[in-house]
Amino acid sequence: MFELDEPYVGKEEHAYLKEAIDSGWISSLGPFVEKFEKKFAEYIGVKYAVSCASGTSALSLLCSTLGIKPGDEVIIQSLTFTADAFAMHQSGAKIVFADCSKDRFTISPEDVKKKITKKTKIISPTHLYGRAAEMTELKEICDSNNIYLVEDCCQATGAKYNNKMLGSIGHFNFHSFHNKLIASGEGGMITTNYKNLAERFEKLKNPPSVNRPDERDGFMEISMNHRLSNLHAAVGLAQLERLEKNIEKKIKMAEIYDNIFKDAEGIKIIKSDPEHRTVWWRYTILLDQKINLGEFKKKALENKIVVREGYLPLHKHPFFKDHNKLSLPNSEKLGKETVDIPSSFNLKENEIISIGHTLKNIAKSLI
Ligand SMILES: Cc1ncc(COP(=O)(O)O)c(C=O)c1O
Repeated sequence: MFELDEPYVGKEEHAYLKEAIDSGWISSLGPFVEKFEKKFAEYIGVKYAVSCASGTSALSLLCSTLGIKPGDEVIIQSLTFTADAFAMHQSGAKIVFADCSKDRFTISPEDVKKKITKKTKIISPTHLYGRAAEMTELKEICDSNNIYLVEDCCQATGAKYNNKMLGSIGHFNFHSFHNKLIASGEGGMITTNYKNLAERFEKLKNPPSVNRPDERDGFMEISMNHRLSNLHAAVGLAQLERLEKNIEKKIKMAEIYDNIFKDAEGIKIIKSDPEHRTVWWRYTILLDQKINLGEFKKKALENKIVVREGYLPLHKHPFFKDHNKLSLPNSEKLGKETVDIPSSFNLKENEIISIGHTLKNIAKSLI
């Protein structure tokens, strides 16, 4: 079966994991945590990288780290993973959903501009599927309005905007290691150049403890365990050391798929921006709405190929019922048309070619 993405675990992961277990340091106090954070900060090109239990952990602490209060407004793209909106919602901030740019999977700077108010505190682009958002425009908007720029890099570790690593442009940015470009089982990391934000996050991800003299006499605020274990950090470090090689494989995979789908009936693709580096967490096709998605999925599965429909934009979820009537045409169109197809690092060239041609033939047969 060709899955959407299978993590690759090699001998380096086994070796580091064994070292961590043999050392007895299996909790978050072990040395791999620090090594992983240090190398991650160097890789992204930021001063600080602080690990945490997951991308959702980073999101959960994001609003407290940045001092977001009920009544503040945060602008996020609607076409993204649910955790982004849930975390903001839980902080009591008002969520403002923005559209994607036309034929892009990332937030529209034009729509963002229209939605800024005096209460806007955060603008958070998601680099969806490993593609960079329009960072020059977004940074300019944030800088001139004194707003935090928060990059969701969960699907885009190693992707670049021009020559800058994503996660190094915003004020405070976060990554996920749950079957992403790095797959450490579970895990997350924030990246920032701001010492105060890194320190605040470090504090919030730990429960108040007797080891911290300032809290011996009683804790002052909520902080709970959102730490990464030494075992997860050991696997993460091995994955980070192989990441550049894996990204090369992903880029090659996308070139092969692009070539197969460029003249396909019923399938469109959105090419990568040549000036940026897309890391293709998932390769996605846009399926003609005349094709029945259920049939397409069924036929793909008969050929041992797992495919999955794209995101329902968050403003259309029953949970966000106050936003259901909002019209975000680009996100709604992309959400309906997008289909994720197998994108694992370890797919061989002949397998990618076979998957591509099989899906192309299925689409042709159903149009
Ligand atoms: C865009 C995006 N943001 C946040 C997350 C949350 O990350 P995690 O699964 O590590 O909690 C994910 C996970 O899939 C994601 O894709």
